[in-house]
Amino acid sequence: MSDGSSFYITTPIFYVNDVPHIGHAYTEVAADVLARWHRQSGDNAWLLTGTDEHGQKILRTATANGVTPKEWADRLVETAWKPLLETVNIANDDFIRTTDERHEVNAQKFLQHLQTEGHIYTGEYEGYYCVGCEEYKPTSDLVDGTGDDAGVLVCAIHSKPVELLHEKNYFFKMSAFADQLLALYEANPDFVQPESARNEVISFVKRGLSDLSISRSSFDWGIKVPWDESHVVYVWFDALLNYITAAGYGQNDEEFASRWPATHIVGKDILRFHAVIWPAMLMAAGIAVPKQVFGHGWLLVGGEKMSKSKLTGIAPSEITDTFGSDAFRYYFMRAISFGQDGSFSWEDLSARYQSELANGFGNLASRVIAMVVRYCDGEVPLGGEPTEADLGIQATEKRVTDASAAFIDRLAIHEAVASVWELVDELNGYITLQEPWALAKDPATRERLETVLHTAVRGLGTLTVLLSPVIPVATGTLWTALGGTGALTDQRIDRAWGWAGGTHVTPLEPLFPRIESTVG
Ligand code: MSP
Repeated sequence: MSDGSSFYITTPIFYVNDVPHIGHAYTEVAADVLARWHRQSGDNAWLLTGTDEHGQKILRTATANGVTPKEWADRLVETAWKPLLETVNIANDDFIRTTDERHEVNAQKFLQHLQTEGHIYTGEYEGYYCVGCEEYKPTSDLVDGTGDDAGVLVCAIHSKPVELLHEKNYFFKMSAFADQLLALYEANPDFVQPESARNEVISFVKRGLSDLSISRSSFDWGIKVPWDESHVVYVWFDALLNYITAAGYGQNDEEFASRWPATHIVGKDILRFHAVIWPAMLMAAGIAVPKQVFGHGWLLVGGEKMSKSKLTGIAPSEITDTFGSDAFRYYFMRAISFGQDGSFSWEDLSARYQSELANGFGNLASRVIAMVVRYCDGEVPLGGEPTEADLGIQATEKRVTDASAAFIDRLAIHEAVASVWELVDELNGYITLQEPWALAKDPATRERLETVLHTAVRGLGTLTVLLSPVIPVATGTLWTALGGTGALTDQRIDRAWGWAGGTHVTPLEPLFPRIESTVG
């Protein structure tokens, strides 16, 4: 990681037909942890999120609710999607809506450019369309319906009937980019990650690419095709462009050059849009492809992807109201291997909250600070000659600082957190073994007591800096109690191990209080 280099990271922009569930919040948190981490590494990190507001899915929901699609989108953005960012404590730098003028105008510019360069033609298309996915589906992605839908084909993801559409549309000559895409995956193995996602994308492109229908004329809720106002731009073509229209494309060349290309964090459900269609669009326009597309796994309920349409969605506030935003962030980043599916369970969340956050980290912080207050009047002692045990803690500080950074570079967030936790566990073990409360009883061991507390305070400081991207609230409180100077978010994470320590600590309330009621 080099000082000041651009780290532009994005989440998908979310459909506003419904309110968010914890699957959406999961993506937000992962991208936010990476952005915060890079910010504290001295990079010029920029986190973009936002909402996808055009297309048939939104239009139908709005109509069913008796309002215009724009009114519906405004309502959902203000009452649900922006509040989600507060609920799980996202420090985004920008929020783009596809109904923003900056997006609509510059998406048109992009399309016009492709048309001028000869990448667009008029054609006819007949196929099965899933409004839930906003996508024409190959028959291999369809299954026979059951119950009320017996006898018709349904989308394998949404379990809802697909619609047979026949339209005269504009097409993007995507098939022309198959070789270039394969060369990209080959030359840059990190372009699509994790490995399973990369393999899936490569074999998809190897099976052959068709051209992409990029306009619709049977409804008008979308961006107008610049040379033919009787068509609106296909919602995915429109949506993908948010990543560049939010970064200055078409409006501010300097800003765009300084930010682009981006790292895209997406769920594996929308991997092909990001790893195939999107780079092909950019290649056609002569714009650099993204730095990376990372497809994370799904939160599952009963073995299936959690979804609102299947009524399995859990609202993020159901968790944060009881456990707080830090616990939400910690749990999902720690308990699920980033890149793989994971099941959410209230029992697992409660157990980890209690053992890892409350007993493991929170208790460590409370105990160390309470002892410095009690035995040293709150003054952080300088300590004497370190013993092997003290040097062991220092070595672990350095080791986990380096190891967690290496994991973050590979987007292995769960491993980065697990690595930092080695220091939590080691410090707890160190305190149990050194018994500072016993050392405090005998004036002859005063210097040893001071060395132990000095070592523990420094270790805690290292933890505070390393954990600040994941649990920003608790670490912010702890930073103040430790007498840290400057803002915690300004502390370099790659130098967390060398934290010099504050001079004075102040009493600390429990960071993760006991939760009395049973939940779930
Ligand atoms: N609007 C498109 C994305 C356009 S990006 C240019 C879209 N929106 S969505 O509202 O359906 O959000 C999909 C994303 O939400 C997934 O890619 C994933 O990031 C997140 N998730 C939705 N359900 C999820 C789970 N059950 N588990 C994990 N993530 C989930 O697709």
